[in-house]
Amino acid sequence: MKTYTNVKDLGNLQEAVKEALEVKKNRFAYKHLGMDKTCLMIFFNSSLRTRLSTQKAAMNLGMNTMVLDVNQGAWKLETERGVIMDGDKPEHILEAIPVMGCYCDIIGVRAFAQFENKADDYSEKILNQFIKYSGKPVFSMEAATGHPLQAFADLITIEEYKTKPRPKVVLTWAPHPRALPQAVPNSFADFMNEADVDFVITHPKGYELAEQFVRGAKVEYDQRKAFEGADFIYAKNWAAYQDPNYGKILSKDMDWTVNTEKMGLTNNANFMHCLPVRRNMIVSDDVIESPQSIVIPEAANREISAQVVLKRMLESL
Ligand code: CP
Repeated sequence: MKTYTNVKDLGNLQEAVKEALEVKKNRFAYKHLGMDKTCLMIFFNSSLRTRLSTQKAAMNLGMNTMVLDVNQGAWKLETERGVIMDGDKPEHILEAIPVMGCYCDIIGVRAFAQFENKADDYSEKILNQFIKYSGKPVFSMEAATGHPLQAFADLITIEEYKTKPRPKVVLTWAPHPRALPQAVPNSFADFMNEADVDFVITHPKGYELAEQFVRGAKVEYDQRKAFEGADFIYAKNWAAYQDPNYGKILSKDMDWTVNTEKMGLTNNANFMHCLPVRRNMIVSDDVIESPQSIVIPEAANREISAQVVLKRMLESL
């Protein structure tokens, strides 16, 4: 595996989940693969889970890890070609990327959507420059349009908790005080559309996601109707994607918060969220603390999804 940016990079998804469950049972069995190899993790944005779980996965594989927070301690990076660099950014990303590539064997990149230019965000401008100029395998640790390590962990978790061959999985928008990227819901939809699940997306009008991620999924604007008979409720906020509102908050309607009354409409559904989560905006205390909440095992599976991706990259070096 030379890149990991979306579900297609995993090839056969059932095989990938099977491999993940095997890795989870014996996560230190592949230590020889990473001996004398270095994983460099580049963060343009904050992280708790991705930072720790990916380092842990690399260590499980015997790798060394290096972490760079671009905005804390590194030179500020200019990302536009052709700019006269007389401002506050002393280094261009076109030198920085190949230099970073000199010091490692595999690179992970976190670079969120900036909501300044939709075309730049949806062309994955930063991530693709790493793929083009680093000379090394590159994996997304959440980029502008996708968070495939999260979605892979989500699928592994659904596989572990499902009680029927084809569960109903509902992705629901929920309110949030800040404008958040579409990366998590995009990747979740991308994976669910490839998985053997009955997938439904629910959100207020105006929050339609990009067609390349929604594909054939059912969109139900009535959240309560969407919840009926659901086996998994996956909550997430995202800002508007469609023009002319790209990156904007259109609603903070607390009637969309996931609460006990709405979970009562489901088939005793498990509650999922990628975390961090704003309690009592996205989900009530009662629901996230309930036995049906699987947000912690979901986060634990981030180590496993990262380990499968790193293992496959090491195997292809
Ligand atoms: N879910 C997730 O990616 O968490 P972090 O932003 O803390 O890495």
